Amino acid sequence: MFSFLSSSKSSPDLSFIGADMHSHLLPGIDDGLQKMEDTISFIKQLHTLGYQKLICTPHIFAGVHPNSPETILPVLASVREKLQQLEIPVSIEAAAEYMIDHEFEQAVQRGDQLLTFGDNYILIEMSYMAASPYLQKVIFELKLAGLQPILAHPERYSFYHPQFQQYQELKDRGCLFQINMLSLCGYYGKQVKNVAKKLLKNKMVEFVGTDMHHQNHLHVLQQFAKDKKLYGFLENAGLLNSTLL
Ligand SMILES: [Fe+2]
Repeated sequence: MFSFLSSSKSSPDLSFIGADMHSHLLPGIDDGLQKMEDTISFIKQLHTLGYQKLICTPHIFAGVHPNSPETILPVLASVREKLQQLEIPVSIEAAAEYMIDHEFEQAVQRGDQLLTFGDNYILIEMSYMAASPYLQKVIFELKLAGLQPILAHPERYSFYHPQFQQYQELKDRGCLFQINMLSLCGYYGKQVKNVAKKLLKNKMVEFVGTDMHHQNHLHVLQQFAKDKKLYGFLENAGLLNSTLL
């Protein structure tokens, strides 16, 4: 299934990426990691792969993952405390991965406090079933509010695959794109991998993210990272991850 089983193995080195800006490492608040000990173990292992900063982005999805700054920031504080105690030199931040739905659109309109990172970046996602009817409106309103939307894993929205121009339309509206590292391994299938590569080739990708949820994701990323031939081209892809350091 995966194409990383090649013979040209090298030491894992994702240090050129610098900062990850999409993960579900904060324990117990969404469908990502559940226990603090796993969070610490994953952070150590991601650091070994070369990441120097990890920006955690728990889901905020009304009725499913009802998070807010009040549920996310105290967990961030306890992870940071633990890392300090253990003297693990990784910088940890938190933002969120906002589901674009009616509730989110209302929150943007009300001017609710939203969790951003870097240069006023805000990570947004949609259902994998169909494009959100609020997408264009939300991109417009976020930009009006001085925030810069980044669409998480555009390559995973298969409803866009037959109409690639839809991606260009979102770029024209000023939306940035983040693709998943795991998409490049073929973890989500060949079509997703091909679209991720096409987006990169067309210079439509600003960020890569791990979208780390569980042990299998980490294992696949670790295997992928062993073969620089598979990801070395990312060094010249004009990614902005390292600007987050
Ligand atoms: Fe995610």
